Amino acid sequence: MGAEEKNSNETVERLKTEFTETEKIILSRRSVRLFKKEQVPAFMIKRILEAGRFAPSAGNSQPWKFIVVREPEIIAGITKDVVTICKLSTALIDYRRPGYGWLRPLSKLFIRLKHNDLHPVPFEIVPLMAEGKADVWWGAPTVILIFKDVRGVSCPDLDCGIAGQNMVIAAHSMGLGTCWVGFARPAFQYMRKWSKCLGVEYPYKFASTLAIGWPMGSPNGMVPRDTHATEWFENGTKTTIY
Ligand SMILES: Cc1cc2nc3c(=O)[nH]c(=O)nc-3n(C[C@H](O)[C@H](O)[C@H](O)COP(=O)(O)O)c2cc1C
Repeated sequence: MGAEEKNSNETVERLKTEFTETEKIILSRRSVRLFKKEQVPAFMIKRILEAGRFAPSAGNSQPWKFIVVREPEIIAGITKDVVTICKLSTALIDYRRPGYGWLRPLSKLFIRLKHNDLHPVPFEIVPLMAEGKADVWWGAPTVILIFKDVRGVSCPDLDCGIAGQNMVIAAHSMGLGTCWVGFARPAFQYMRKWSKCLGVEYPYKFASTLAIGWPMGSPNGMVPRDTHATEWFENGTKTTIY
C-alpha cells in the first residue's frame, strides 16, 4: 500500500467517528443577536475580509464590494431610516391590525408583487421593527455591508452569499458572533442617501450585510432544520436520504 493510500484510509477511519474542526465550526454557528459593546480589533475584521476575498465566484468575477462600518452614528442613522420605512409600510399594508381588514386586497397585491421582501417572515418582522421591538444590527459594533457588482458573471447574489458565509465562518472560528442582516435593504433600495454617504455607485447594488461583534452569552440550542429529502443516484438505483 502506497503512503498516499495509507493516509487516505486513515483519514476515512478517523472521519467515521470524528468531526473535522471545520465541520465543528459550521455546526456550532448560530446567529447572534446580543453583542458586547467592546469593539472587535481591526486586524480581526481584516482577516475576516480576507476570508471573503478568497471565496469562489463564477468565472472568478469576484462581483462584490465590502464596506466596513464601525461608526455608531452611521449604524444608528441607517437603523432609524429602516424603522421609518417599516412604520410607513406597516401603515400602508398591515391589514392584520384591528379595523384595517379593508386593506387586505391591496396588501395581498403588494405581497404578490414583492413576494421575497414580504414573505411571511419579514412581514412579521416589519411591525416589530416599526414598534422598536427588533433591531437591524442588534447592537453589533462592526457591520460589513456586501454590495454586488451587477455586471458579475451568472449570479452575483450567489457569489456575494458565498463570500459572506466565508466571512461568517471565519468570524465564528475566531470566537466572534455574527448575524446575516438582510433587513438593511430598504435603506439602500428606497433611499439614495446611504449609498451616497458610503460612496456606493453603479455597478454596485445592495446584496446583504453582516453584524459582527463579541457575543454576549451564547444562543441556546440550534434553530430546527427541515430534513429535506435528497435523492441519491448510484449503481442504477435511486434512493432517498434525509
Ligand atoms: C441572507 C440572510 C438574511 C438574514 N437577515 C436577517 C435579518 O435581517 N435579521 C435577523 O435578525 N436575522 C437575519 N438572518 C438570520 C436568520 O434568521 C437565521 O440564519 C436563521 O433563523 C437560522 O438561525 P441560525 O443562523 O441561528 O442557525 C438572515 C439570514 C440570512 C442567511
